[in-house]
Amino acid sequence: MSYVALITGASSGIGEATARRLAREGDVRLVLVARREEKLRALAAELGGATVVAVDLTAAQAPAQVRETLEREHAGQLHLLVNNAGTAWRGRFEDVGWADLERHMRINFEAPARLTEALLPLLRATAAAVPAAAEKPHRRVAIVNVASTAARVSRPNSGAYSASKFALVGWSDALYAEQLGHGVHVGLVLPGFVRTEGFPAAELPARPQTRWLVSEPERVAEAILEAGPGGKAERYVPRWYWLAAALRLLAPALVRRATAGGALTTTTKASEASLAGD
Ligand SMILES: NC(=O)c1ccc[n+]([C@@H]2O[C@H](COP(=O)([O-])OP(=O)(O)OC[C@H]3O[C@@H](n4cnc5c(N)ncnc54)[C@H](OP(=O)(O)O)[C@@H]3O)[C@@H](O)[C@H]2O)c1
Repeated sequence: MSYVALITGASSGIGEATARRLAREGDVRLVLVARREEKLRALAAELGGATVVAVDLTAAQAPAQVRETLEREHAGQLHLLVNNAGTAWRGRFEDVGWADLERHMRINFEAPARLTEALLPLLRATAAAVPAAAEKPHRRVAIVNVASTAARVSRPNSGAYSASKFALVGWSDALYAEQLGHGVHVGLVLPGFVRTEGFPAAELPARPQTRWLVSEPERVAEAILEAGPGGKAERYVPRWYWLAAALRLLAPALVRRATAGGALTTTTKASEASLAGD
């Protein structure tokens, strides 16, 4: 039986790298989802064929559209769902307000939750049809939610992004426990800084002191395979970023002071500039 893998946000960055990585596995049928159809079609052609669903995942009909495509083109089979599509905008809450929180929640939390709701019956039916003894362990039926280390440590100007990823992580842990008995594994991936179109992090690679903080999308793709078909609970990229999450629990005041450092500097510089009449 072919392994059917659906990746959201496959038109660039981590999703595109994951599609390329999965295509190297034998006998995988890919379903590529994002808004930019021409990018998805070019990738599908390059990878020797894939199903393309060009859709805005925040649209009301998107989950049903994806499900109908799977039923039509893959007989309703689905082995791997990678909820990867996501976006970040920056801004202080006092400036960007609830509207910014809402748009982050819509794409980073609501969209994966609604898509999962629509596709969970297919994942469970696929898992039920795979005899456990015959199933290769590295080809589990699985959901991978791509969160962020921002789901463990919040930084100024990214509160809404962090809130949406915290929500994704909290929901994923419960979903894991709920689906365990149904043969559907739920894994999490928490990347740090990764150089992509939507997250250019231009200032970090430019400086030798911070260049080492930035990972490539291919590393995250490997982590997605480990957290999905590989059955791991969660993977940080790079791995040692779990230290930041642990420190946030053990020494919250320290982490707050460290993350606030940048904000205080920015605020001080802004006040100095305004005092100087800039
Ligand atoms: N790069 C990082 O530093 C970093 C760190 C931690 C976590 N992450 C997470 O990794 C995931 C992938 O991000 P990336 O770094 O690969 O960024 P990216 O290159 O900007 O990719 C984002 C993908 O999401 C898709 N997308 C965005 N809004 C969409 C919508 N409304 N409907 C359907 N698709 C949508 C985009 O495709 P279209 O524009 O074609 O729709 C694109 O394929 C995100 O969830 C992000 O939060 C990234």
